[in-house]
Amino acid sequence: MFIGISGIIGAGKSTLAQDLASRLGYEVYNEPVKDNPYLEDFYADMKHWGAMMQIHLLFRRFEQHQQIVWNKGKGAVQDRTIYEDTIFASMLHEDGFIDQRDYQTYLGHFNLMKRFLVYPDILIYLRVEPETSVQRITDRGRKAEAGITLDYMKKLHQGYEDFIEEMENYTRVLVLDWTQFLEVDEVVERVSEKANEKREFLRDLRNS
Ligand SMILES: Nc1ncnc2c1ncn2[C@@H]1O[C@H](COP(=O)(O)OP(=O)(O)O)[C@@H](O)[C@H]1O
Ligand SMILES: [Mg+2]
Repeated sequence: MFIGISGIIGAGKSTLAQDLASRLGYEVYNEPVKDNPYLEDFYADMKHWGAMMQIHLLFRRFEQHQQIVWNKGKGAVQDRTIYEDTIFASMLHEDGFIDQRDYQTYLGHFNLMKRFLVYPDILIYLRVEPETSVQRITDRGRKAEAGITLDYMKKLHQGYEDFIEEMENYTRVLVLDWTQFLEVDEVVERVSEKANEKREFLRDLRNS
């Protein structure tokens, strides 16, 4: 199974991705953070670096996505999916940090890549309030993230809520209230319930 973990910055994705992969014996695909050469510049000057940051992330995540598809027999947990990148890109575009021309170039790349993508079998959405995530970001104290504002997180949160609603048309989405962290066994239980929903659906279809 290919499980995607989605959620705003500081929601708890990386931690859960690691725990879930260990528990299930799956491969974990971490989000490229430490080795992202744009991250610090991006948060310091979004107008200048917004477009390149998005283009960079797009190819990194596409590369990871391909690896997941090739190794799918092993099972995969991906810490943030390529689909979520579009939330950031469209938000940066709306806020004037990525101009129309660059945004079209970005979308051209994404739409082309989309033809080679598969949806995760299950997408887990870790839902947290923007205030909670800001607190977690502050607590973990990454230098590059020091400039993230509550306003930015509120917009991102809304973008995620809309995105998740949309994704429900394409794959199974498991929404978890991540204000409090659940034990990994509880998450495994919820994932398997979701997986069974599909089996029941297919059985009903065969019997009808
Ligand atoms: N299950 C958990 N138990 C305790 N602390 C957690 C848990 N999940 C996340 N955290 C803490 O919350 C913060 C954000 O988590 P992280 O996994 O880095 O989020 P994300 O990858 O979504 O940005 C980190 O400081 C992390 O240590
Ligand atoms: Mg992370």
